[in-house]
Amino acid sequence: MNKLAVLTSGGDSPGMNPAIRAITRTCIKLGVDILGIENGYQGIFDRQFTPLGVLEVSGKIRDAGTFLGTSRCDRFRQKDGQEEALSVLREEKIDGLLVIGGDGSLTGARILSDMGFPVIGLPGTIDNDLYGTDMGIGVDTALNTIIHLIDMIKATASSHRRCFIVEVMGRTSGYLALMSTISTGSQVAVVPEFDVNMAAIVESLNRRVLKKHNNSVVIVAEGVCSGQEFMDKLKREGAELINKETRLTVLGHVQRGASPTHFDRLLASRMGEYAVLAITQDQTGSMTSLVNGRVQLRTFTEILGRKKDLPADAIRLAKNLGIEIGRPPQKP
Ligand code: ADP
Ligand code: F6P
Repeated sequence: MNKLAVLTSGGDSPGMNPAIRAITRTCIKLGVDILGIENGYQGIFDRQFTPLGVLEVSGKIRDAGTFLGTSRCDRFRQKDGQEEALSVLREEKIDGLLVIGGDGSLTGARILSDMGFPVIGLPGTIDNDLYGTDMGIGVDTALNTIIHLIDMIKATASSHRRCFIVEVMGRTSGYLALMSTISTGSQVAVVPEFDVNMAAIVESLNRRVLKKHNNSVVIVAEGVCSGQEFMDKLKREGAELINKETRLTVLGHVQRGASPTHFDRLLASRMGEYAVLAITQDQTGSMTSLVNGRVQLRTFTEILGRKKDLPADAIRLAKNLGIEIGRPPQKP
C-alpha cells in the first residue's frame, strides 16, 4: 500500500478530527501517502483530494467536527455512482480507503469493499447504535455535553419547582437517553427499545411533587417522538400535579459540538492507528471496534444490519435506581 485516503461521512461526531490526525500520523510513520477526501463520498465525485501531513492535522485533536467536511451523498447510494466512485479511486491510484462514519456510511464502505476495494471503517457516531463495538467515537463527548446541559436545566427547574422534558438525539437508539438519565439523576427515560408506560410515568412524577421534590426531569429519545409530542401527551394523560409548570428543552445539534473528551481523543487515536495498521496488512471489509476495552476488527458482515441492544446492565441499573423506563416490547 503506497497511498491511502480517508473520508468522514454522515452526521459529524466529536473525535472525527483526532481519528483523521491519528490516521495521518501513522501513515507518515509507515511511509504511506495519505489523502483527505473532502465532504464525504461527495468528495470522490468532485475529486476533492488533499494530501495530509503533520501540519494539516496540527491542533486537530482538540476540535469537534471534521475539518475534512462531511455530507449525505445520494449519488453514492446508486449503483452507477458506486461504480463511478470506484473508478475515481483507482484513477487516483488510491490503494485503500478509511471511512469514518455511522451505520449508513459504513454500509456504503461495505459496498466498495464487496466491489474489491480495500476499506476499513471507523465508528464515528454519537448515537452508539453500531453493533459490535462497545462505544462509537463521539458518544462519550455527546453524553458529557448532555449531562452538562441537563445539570443547568436542573438548576432552573428546581428554582421554579418545575418538571422538564428534555429531547436528546440518538436516531433509533435510546442509548444517549438512558445513559444520561442515569448520570444526571433524572427520573424517566423514554427510549425506543421499550414501550412507554404513561401511567407509571404520571405516577412517578406526581409522587415526586407530593414528596416535595423541587424538580423532575424526563429525557425523551428522539427515536420515540419529539419532546413536544411527548409533553402534549403527558399533559393530556393526567400528570395534573406537574402540568402547569412543565417546560420543554430540545438539546439539538449542540450535542455534537463539544471539544472531544479524553475518552474520545484516545479512542479515536487508537482506532485511527489500528485502522492504518490493519489495512496496510491487507485486512479489509471490517470496522475497528472496542470490545471489552480492546480495539479489534469486526467484519462488516458481522456488524451491519444488526440492531444493537441497550446494555443489559445499564437497564438493570436504571431500574434499581428507580428510573422509569417503560415495559419491554411485546413480542409478536
Ligand atoms: P450515518 O453514516 O451517520 O449513519 P447516513 O445514514 O446519512 O449517516 O449515511 C451517510 C452517507 O452514507 C449517505 O449519504 C450515503 O452517501 C452513504 N450511504 C448510506 N446508506 C447507504 C447505502 N445503503 N448504500 C450506499 N451508500 C450509503
Ligand atoms: O446520527 C447522528 C445524528 O446526530 C442523530 O442523532 C440525529 O438524528 C441526526 O444525526 C441529525 O442529523 P442532521 O445533522 O442531518 O440534522
